[in-house]
Amino acid sequence: MTGHQSVHHPPQRVGVVAESLPGETRVAATPPTVRLLLGLGYEVVVEPGAGAASGFGDEAYAEAGASLGEAWAADVVLKVNAPADEEIAKLRAGTTLVALVAPAQRPELLEALAAREVTVLALDAVPRISRAQSMDVLSSMANIAGYRAVIEAAHVFGRFFTGQVTAAGKVPPAKVLVAGAGVAGLAAIGAASSLGAIVRATDPRPEVADQVKSLGGEYLPVAAAQQDSTDGYAKATTADYDRAAAELYRAQAAEVDVVITTALVPGRPAPRLLTAEDVAAMRPGSVVVDMAAAQGGNVEGTVPGRSVVTGNGVTLIGYTDLASRLPAQASQLFGTNLVNLLRLLTPGKDGRIVIDFDDVVQRAVTVVRAGTVTWPPPPVSVSAAPPATAPAAATAAPVGAKPSRLTPAGRFGLIGLGMLAAFLLVAFAPAQLAENFTVFALAVVIGYYVIGKVHHSLHTPLMSVTNAISGIVVIGALVQIGHESALVTVLSFVAILLTSVNIFGGFAVTRRMLSMFSRGEPR
Ligand code: NAI
Repeated sequence: MTGHQSVHHPPQRVGVVAESLPGETRVAATPPTVRLLLGLGYEVVVEPGAGAASGFGDEAYAEAGASLGEAWAADVVLKVNAPADEEIAKLRAGTTLVALVAPAQRPELLEALAAREVTVLALDAVPRISRAQSMDVLSSMANIAGYRAVIEAAHVFGRFFTGQVTAAGKVPPAKVLVAGAGVAGLAAIGAASSLGAIVRATDPRPEVADQVKSLGGEYLPVAAAQQDSTDGYAKATTADYDRAAAELYRAQAAEVDVVITTALVPGRPAPRLLTAEDVAAMRPGSVVVDMAAAQGGNVEGTVPGRSVVTGNGVTLIGYTDLASRLPAQASQLFGTNLVNLLRLLTPGKDGRIVIDFDDVVQRAVTVVRAGTVTWPPPPVSVSAAPPATAPAAATAAPVGAKPSRLTPAGRFGLIGLGMLAAFLLVAFAPAQLAENFTVFALAVVIGYYVIGKVHHSLHTPLMSVTNAISGIVVIGALVQIGHESALVTVLSFVAILLTSVNIFGGFAVTRRMLSMFSRGEPR
């Protein structure tokens, strides 16, 4: 099936079917994503009522250019959840089905689909590599779910998240612990801290500490060795780690008001983080949201899909449909991920799917090809974490400690040598130099402390503003421009021109960069 042959073929039909799973509110395409599918050359047919639960009426799809009708008969069927048995029976041979399939958990489903002679692309098999990020529904849904977990917790908590000092008295801020700082965890940290809570988070991957901090949370390290991730996902924790973490959870549970757990290691049951005793130690009125309830739960006592209250008045929320609780946006992001996948699979933009097995992403998502099960794919290894340069040293060092190549004695030797050099320079150089050297040394010290206190993300605007300040040399040029020598005047003029570019350019860049950090309408 090559590009030039396809010119003679009619475009394929993409079918958007209604979801049958109870409680599912999402839909695999929205009117805006239908337009994008049409742009790839496909015809689109939507099952009547498919978007109703997420607020997209049939007429909106029709207006976007879709036809309404029997979507299961299409060449490409788009769906959110894996098809039920009676839906599998509706698939025609040769159809390409795109949906969440959970291939690792449901080998029998793959067999049933293969028996229908179809091709199945599993959205939950998109590898976690940067090139595939735009197709990663697990991440886009986890992001929504993490946010929603905080909203659910805040709703049940029944008290302020933010602290307040009012005429009627003081309200303390709520304390929130987020366990697991992956996609869902980071979204939860951001949502909880923007509601004003004190947020703490822990994760076996120490590299997330900066991300936790940048979202307003405090990273709680667990003092035990862990391995680096090689595929964007965490590895199972060591027994050492689990013991140290259990202590941390015991101490935190007694102190915080809300716990949100998101810990997951792919291909394994959810790690148990909070025991029944930890929950029993929480204050009445506290809330736990166990996002991993569907995978067995991070918290002892959560019931998947339900909210239960323990004997000591702690609410355990085990909802498994958190993303579906924001249906319109969840569908929009899901649909956009799907369009991005289809864009990759439609190189000719001619409305025809071409699957290239030499491409790791396409290989990974294809779990059934024309009736043959092709799961699991050969492993993809990427460096989501910075490559481990010295693994032996890294495991030995306590979490969070900076590796240092110098022994303390070596460091003192080096400092002593520097001081001796400075002394010799000042003692034997002309007096003028000694004075300049003092200014220079002071500038180094002040510069070091000023810049050291500025957040990393603000270093670029800081550079451009100091660039602008360096334009102070314009004063020298202004003093010289009236000089009788024409050469000096010309040189001064050029100097004024260049330093002005530096000054105004520096401030303009700073302004633009800082506006990226300010909330509200971009100016
Ligand atoms: P992720 O892989 O991005 O993050 C999981 C995090 O857990 C990683 O940062 C990992 O280092 C950490 N982790 C692993 N073992 C741990 C341990 N023993 N202690 C603490 N942290 C540990 O996964 P993502 O996408 O954030 O999803 C998180 C969970 O949320 C999954 O279980 C997922 O199925 C679930 N989820 C639930 C939804 C719902 O409606 N309830 C919706 C979407 C996702």
